[in-house]
Amino acid sequence: MSIKRLVRKELTGPARVSATRRRVEASEDMISLAAGDPNFLLPEYIADEMRQAVLDGCTHYCFGGDPELKVAVADYYGKYGYKADPNSQVAITAGGSQSIFQSYAVILNEGDQVLAFDPAYGGGSRAPRYFGVKTDFVPMKVEADGSFRMNVEGLKEAITDKTKALYIDNPGNPSGMVYTEKELKAMADLAVDNDFFVLSDETYTEFIWGDKKHVPLITMPGMEDRTLVAMALTKMFAWAGMRTGWIIAGPELSQYVGRAPGSGVSWPVQRAAIVALTKGQEFVKGMVDEYEERLDYCVKRLNEMPGVKCLKPEGAFYLFPDVSGVGLSSSDFVTKFMEEEKVRVVSGVGYGPAVGEGRIRLSMIRPLSTQKMLSWFKMTANTTLEAAMDRMESFCKRHAK
Ligand SMILES: Cc1ncc(COP(=O)(O)O)c(C=O)c1O
Repeated sequence: MSIKRLVRKELTGPARVSATRRRVEASEDMISLAAGDPNFLLPEYIADEMRQAVLDGCTHYCFGGDPELKVAVADYYGKYGYKADPNSQVAITAGGSQSIFQSYAVILNEGDQVLAFDPAYGGGSRAPRYFGVKTDFVPMKVEADGSFRMNVEGLKEAITDKTKALYIDNPGNPSGMVYTEKELKAMADLAVDNDFFVLSDETYTEFIWGDKKHVPLITMPGMEDRTLVAMALTKMFAWAGMRTGWIIAGPELSQYVGRAPGSGVSWPVQRAAIVALTKGQEFVKGMVDEYEERLDYCVKRLNEMPGVKCLKPEGAFYLFPDVSGVGLSSSDFVTKFMEEEKVRVVSGVGYGPAVGEGRIRLSMIRPLSTQKMLSWFKMTANTTLEAAMDRMESFCKRHAK
């Protein structure tokens, strides 16, 4: 009997564990800059709220999500200029991945086509295959300085009569790009003219650097019922293991979001999420300051290394430097860097087929020695970003031709 023959075909190819999720035996001096799992320790009031919620009996089913959390989410998102009705337009999910998966479950039928820019977050661009749907990638425009911009012409050309949705991450992981109003307007026009949805993954809106502003696609003309906004507390509140997120959609589309299968979120965690969203601004501000310090420090260090060019991103907390000058392929760079220097980074190739070769992604989730906030792990001189940059400098000096 072949079990393989019976299970879903998308699961039967070569086992592929995303580079960020791979479990590696950690050693004291290994530094992981792979997954986007923030290192900050949550404030005590979150734990207090969860404990109180258990004592208050929030240990039963919470069908449809906690109504107060939905109000908190709608109020929170209101700061970007879109006011959703909390009862009907907000669905609570178990994190960003579920927001993405559930959104696709609402709109995809077998044989549809999804488009995504390259590079894009793989969890968003590759999930359609579980619905019998192919993702086609549109390479972003790479500017002379190495930054990315939306490729409107490429998008136009990629649209077919099967196009059901476009996936975007705004701000972008790993592109670091924050879409301008003009780019979003061009995207909205194409979505309306060609009758498709946009899954707008807005996981990193708290982390925007410089004078850029987050403009939600859902506010663009014609987009209210064509946009599924996927968000999570994962990065916004260093909440990765607590699995809480949401989907916001327009009044008509959101009726169907509620009908798609979802797994629900532990109720005490939802109670704590209300506190995070309503009282957590100071904690978020602290992280924003730390991240910006990390980015500035690492961009400077990287640009001093032979064979490396690195831009400061407009948003999110990843660096996506061009390391092609070191003379190794992205995947060789990642493997050798881990073997020789015990630093984990991710190959750029995983974020799309065209533009990632020659780049690696570094997640700024390790502290500088100057960090003021608390970390969930013991900080030592061996695991700081300074140490990671020292090791990368030795590595590049050794390998650059
Ligand atoms: C753009 C983007 N969306 C969604 C996610 C998934 O987040 P979660 O851990 O909440 O599932 C990530 C995680 O890295 C991400 O970068």
